[in-house]
Amino acid sequence: MAASKLGVGIAGLGLISKTHAAAYQRMSDVVDLVAGCDVDPKATAAFAEEYGAKTYADLHDLINDPAVDVVDLILPHHLHHDAAMAVLDAGKHLILEKPVAPTYEQSVAIHRRAAEAGVHFMVAENTRYIAAYQAVERLLKEGAIGEVIHARTYLRSNEKAHLSMPGYWRTRYELGGGLVMDTGAHSFYLLKWLLGEVDELTGISRKVFPLDNEIEDTAEVFGRLKSGAHFSCGFTSVSEVPHSERLELFGTEGGILVDQMADPVVKLFRGQYDFQGEAVEGVPFGPDAWHPGGWHYESVLTEVTDYVRSLVEGRPPLIDSGDTVYAMRIVEAAYESIKSGRPVTGL
Ligand SMILES: NC(=O)c1ccc[n+]([C@@H]2O[C@H](COP(=O)([O-])OP(=O)(O)OC[C@H]3O[C@@H](n4cnc5c(N)ncnc54)[C@H](O)[C@@H]3O)[C@@H](O)[C@H]2O)c1
Repeated sequence: MAASKLGVGIAGLGLISKTHAAAYQRMSDVVDLVAGCDVDPKATAAFAEEYGAKTYADLHDLINDPAVDVVDLILPHHLHHDAAMAVLDAGKHLILEKPVAPTYEQSVAIHRRAAEAGVHFMVAENTRYIAAYQAVERLLKEGAIGEVIHARTYLRSNEKAHLSMPGYWRTRYELGGGLVMDTGAHSFYLLKWLLGEVDELTGISRKVFPLDNEIEDTAEVFGRLKSGAHFSCGFTSVSEVPHSERLELFGTEGGILVDQMADPVVKLFRGQYDFQGEAVEGVPFGPDAWHPGGWHYESVLTEVTDYVRSLVEGRPPLIDSGDTVYAMRIVEAAYESIKSGRPVTGL
């Protein structure tokens, strides 16, 4: 590794680590992917072969490797808190996959500790880097639809294969599993970023697909934002349409529709007779979410790139990680409502 380059070590070499690794490879002018860590020997062997990097079975060995300046944590949710604290205690830079941690309290603690440690910290919440939502942010700032009255998000995936694996961490609440945990983190972050805080909410959930595990596969969380706007967020992990996201915003002067399966992806409607709407430029149509060119893949590349570039340039990343911490408060409230069958007010 050239002395001037940052050494990156990835811990957790599963599904999404490959997209992070692709981003580091594209930034070989400033970073070297020097190490990977996983408890699964097959994962470390594949990583060593593909990237020619060192591998470890123990996270602490990766953290203590002097060639590692930045640790990228891409781990099961129940490991996020302790792993993040170990990285921060070692004074290494940290990029941490969402959700920050399975509880709000742990999420706050990580955020605080990162500020104290003075390292470059970011929660990898790709939602902030989805081109369509960046276009929506611009439109809202321009006042294109007036005051938002109603916001609806929808997040669909198909995790039937994963969720059929006995013992897989996503199928158990104690390991940080749960649909609202996994995907609510995205949608509640989106609401906070674009529209502000939640005032009250109600959550309902069910299990549509008869798998032998304890978690919900379909949920709805709805309520009122502090702005007064109503919101509803739909989630499913047993979708029989492609992995996709949708956002509908209705305002006092128009509306915005985002649909990753539609071309154009973002449409702006101005008034009740605007039947065609206006295609919002600059948002590529990439419905094959997980592959190069896909809306999700590209957002993760942009996210990791912003983390590295902001570190090199000595500026904060685009995302406010505090908003990802806030999202975990809403995840907790949603589960509280789902369990009690009652609204959670005064948030
Ligand atoms: N931004 C997104 O859209 C997105 C998409 C997928 C996953 N994620 C997040 O990324 C994280 C990982 O998810 P994933 O889908 O890659 O999970 P995964 O199950 O595919 O991978 C997790 C990896 O961690 C390894 N692991 C488990 N315990 C370990 C330990 N103690 N030390 C080192 N490695 C260990 C596992 O063997 C596995 O290879 C989660 O936080 C998840 O929410 C985000």
